[in-house]
Amino acid sequence: MIKRADLSRDYAAHREEYLQAITRVCEETAFSGGKYADRFAEEFADYLGVAAATGVNNGTSALHLAMLALGIGPGDEVIIPANTFIATAWGATYCGATPVFVDCTADTWEIDPAKIEEKITERTKAIAGVHLYGQPFDFAAVKAIADRHGLFTIEDCAQSVAAEFEGKRTGGLCDIGCFSFYPGKNLYAFGEGGAVTSNNPELIEKINVLKEHGSSRRYYHDCVGYNMRLEGIQGAVLSVSLKYLDGWTDRRIEIGRRYEREIDNPLFKLQVHPENTKAVYHLFEVQVPDPEHFLTYMKEHDIECTRHYPVPCHLQNAYAGLGYKEGDCPNAEQLAARCADLPLYPELTDDEVSRIIDRCNAYRG
Ligand SMILES: Cc1ncc(COP(=O)(O)O)c(C=O)c1O
Repeated sequence: MIKRADLSRDYAAHREEYLQAITRVCEETAFSGGKYADRFAEEFADYLGVAAATGVNNGTSALHLAMLALGIGPGDEVIIPANTFIATAWGATYCGATPVFVDCTADTWEIDPAKIEEKITERTKAIAGVHLYGQPFDFAAVKAIADRHGLFTIEDCAQSVAAEFEGKRTGGLCDIGCFSFYPGKNLYAFGEGGAVTSNNPELIEKINVLKEHGSSRRYYHDCVGYNMRLEGIQGAVLSVSLKYLDGWTDRRIEIGRRYEREIDNPLFKLQVHPENTKAVYHLFEVQVPDPEHFLTYMKEHDIECTRHYPVPCHLQNAYAGLGYKEGDCPNAEQLAARCADLPLYPELTDDEVSRIIDRCNAYRG
């Protein structure tokens, strides 16, 4: 079976290095926050070319803390794409704000700037875009709207580490960037992990206090805070992985482009990648008329595929109280109804990629 994701291949390739890094943390008992978590945050800021970064315990916390640091709170509204993992919306909800869902475009499947302004009210505080599947959203258009209306911009980079918009890495585009290092992300921890990045060090300073129980001096608490530190072991593992990220990204791009060149089945619709962006192919999502049928077909041929995401945020039960209905975000709804993803990770062999392409091209629905 070709798995949709197979982290054991990375572990096998770099086992000794990972274990040495973990052992060092254990020997120094630098478990919670501390030297290795901080070192990774510095390396990550350098890698992205941003002024500051801080490690946190997962991507959901990154979004929550980022919105808190921007002062988002009860009564505020945050514009969020309807097609994202639900955690982008949790960030707003946890702050007591309301997520306001906007449709995606029909081709890039990223937030549609043309549909943002009609959703802006006097309560809108920020636009939180998501670089979904590793494809940067149209930052220039979103930024122009945000500036016109005096709004903050937030980027959910959980799927876009190393992706670029007009030559600049995601995580340094908006006022604040949020990363997840959940296992299977392009850069991942051996457990949970996340980071917040910004070119405004004051925002990162605020998050350093918030994630540490509202404290910059032990046992003195200046505000209500949280326990959302990155663990030392995760920082150490991420420092090892960061060294390999460029190679992994190149290989992801190579496989993604092969799929794009060689899958010529008219039943498939693929994501469009604008020329001013560098996509990093976190997920290779396709639209097919009947995704469940396609998944079963691929499984019968020993290829595991999954779906991201079968229900758009505005139609999730958790947000039923907001009163959205089918037809409110038609492109996101079509994507949800038709999406399926193909295996894509750096360790896939060329033969496996060929097998996946052959099976896609032989699919008749
Ligand atoms: C787009 C997006 N946002 C946020 C998250 C949340 O990250 P985490 O699972 O680390 O909390 C994820 C991860 O699954 C994601 O894909």
